[in-house]
Amino acid sequence: MEIKVITGDIAQIEADAIVVSLSEGVEQPGGATAAVDRALDGAISSLISRREIKGKFGEVSIVHTFGKLPGRMVAVAGLGKAEDLNADRIRAVAGEFCRALRKLNCRKIATVLHGAGAGGIEPVASAAAIAEGALLGLYSFTKYKKPEYEDVKEMLIVVKEEETAPSLERAVDKARVVAEAASLARTMVDEPANHMTPSRMAEAAKEIAGKYDLEFKVFDREDMEGMGMGALLGVARGSNEPPKLMTLSYRGDGRSQEALGFLGKGITFDSGGISIKPSEGMGEMKGDMAGAAAVVAALGAIAQLKPQVNVTAIVPATENLPSGTALKPGDILKAMNGKTIEVISTDAEGRLILADALCYGQKLGLSPLIDLATLTGACRIALGTLYGGLFSNNRDLAEKVLKAGERAGERMWQMPMPAEYKELIKSEVADIKNGGNRLGGAITAALFLAEFAGDTPWVHVDIAGPASSTKESGYLVKGATGFGVRTLVEFALSEAERGETK
Ligand code: BES
Ligand code: MN
Ligand code: ZN
Repeated sequence: MEIKVITGDIAQIEADAIVVSLSEGVEQPGGATAAVDRALDGAISSLISRREIKGKFGEVSIVHTFGKLPGRMVAVAGLGKAEDLNADRIRAVAGEFCRALRKLNCRKIATVLHGAGAGGIEPVASAAAIAEGALLGLYSFTKYKKPEYEDVKEMLIVVKEEETAPSLERAVDKARVVAEAASLARTMVDEPANHMTPSRMAEAAKEIAGKYDLEFKVFDREDMEGMGMGALLGVARGSNEPPKLMTLSYRGDGRSQEALGFLGKGITFDSGGISIKPSEGMGEMKGDMAGAAAVVAALGAIAQLKPQVNVTAIVPATENLPSGTALKPGDILKAMNGKTIEVISTDAEGRLILADALCYGQKLGLSPLIDLATLTGACRIALGTLYGGLFSNNRDLAEKVLKAGERAGERMWQMPMPAEYKELIKSEVADIKNGGNRLGGAITAALFLAEFAGDTPWVHVDIAGPASSTKESGYLVKGATGFGVRTLVEFALSEAERGETK
């Protein structure tokens, strides 16, 4: 979909639909909504007084113009309570009205800047949120089935004279890069495991690297053996698909040797291995590489936005399957840093492959390290699907990542890492074990990872909850969400700004 920012009067725009908005509880619309209402001889205000249009968050009401306006229909988007309005709600509203209008066969949509003016949202923030929400909300995975509806081709963001600024266009351009990166990650996650194998992940990463001029490396089983990545290799033993470890590097700051490290769990299918999962819902585990997809896609976006900072992504990728050669409970593995790990459950495989990735991140001297992983069902149970669980060994870093998430519209909640719980992952026969009991499962997983992050400032985000959505809502659709992409991009941009003022 093409998105343009133009100046003009929304009531005079020729489009399949023009979109205005209304806050909940407002009886007499103002601004653009009032102007359109007048052109429609009061149709909107009369529908409000009849309580057909309420302005509820996410509500989309259609009023046909029948020639009273150049546009075929008017959509009144509900913004919810004025005091609850923020950029993320505008993203969600844009997702909702775009999908509603696509169903009504609209090819060209014109919208005002929702929430700007009386709503108190900066025009730049509103434009970015509309663009992002529209692109994210219209995403669908159509590779194997013809889509139900035709695409929306064009969206005009119509602004008043005084709101015009090149900064609006820049904001829309950035929003597009970020939203397209998130949707690229979603495509990788939605792709079934028979297609998105570790080798295909490596190819996809290589393609992105080639397109945006990133340095790309891929390591195979032999390389991993040479580097002593026994934990990653242990997980890979059960599968006939060869494991891959990829790195993508973006160099935006030639003056510095430092680089941020983004890591992502890349289990292209998690059957649980010998500690096999129940078959019900197992198919969902094709998405166990959502962390990997997010870091790869984030690097592509960062390469386009060109912040003055260096970033390297590390992606360990393998399947987790049972077989005659598979890892078994009771096995002992040796990670790259020499630590021995007793395998309690072969289903706690994410922390095993990330252990080696974290060691490798340290070997490359990356700092801070941020990993994204669909690591534990426990985290999803604790926080549900709206929040990622954030764990860190560094207060300042945790704060920065949480803030970046807030700006990006990705919610995370910091979880504790009490030293007392380390008791739960002590092994009698090895340095550490990969499972505790069921209590505090997300925390013991994080405590395990911390052992491999060493002294490097590190954040782990358990995205088992927010990585996928079971329903269409706001700018989310059923399936992958791309969670983490927007936070990582935002974090890299803010680190670059900090670097400039150093
Ligand atoms: N990939 C799963 C976690 C998961 C569960 C992600 C549900 C998304 C939705 C992970 O590898 C796993 O199996 N974790 C186990 C850990 C346990 C064996 C210690 C879990 O959460 O049950
Ligand atoms: Mn597992
Ligand atoms: Zn897993």
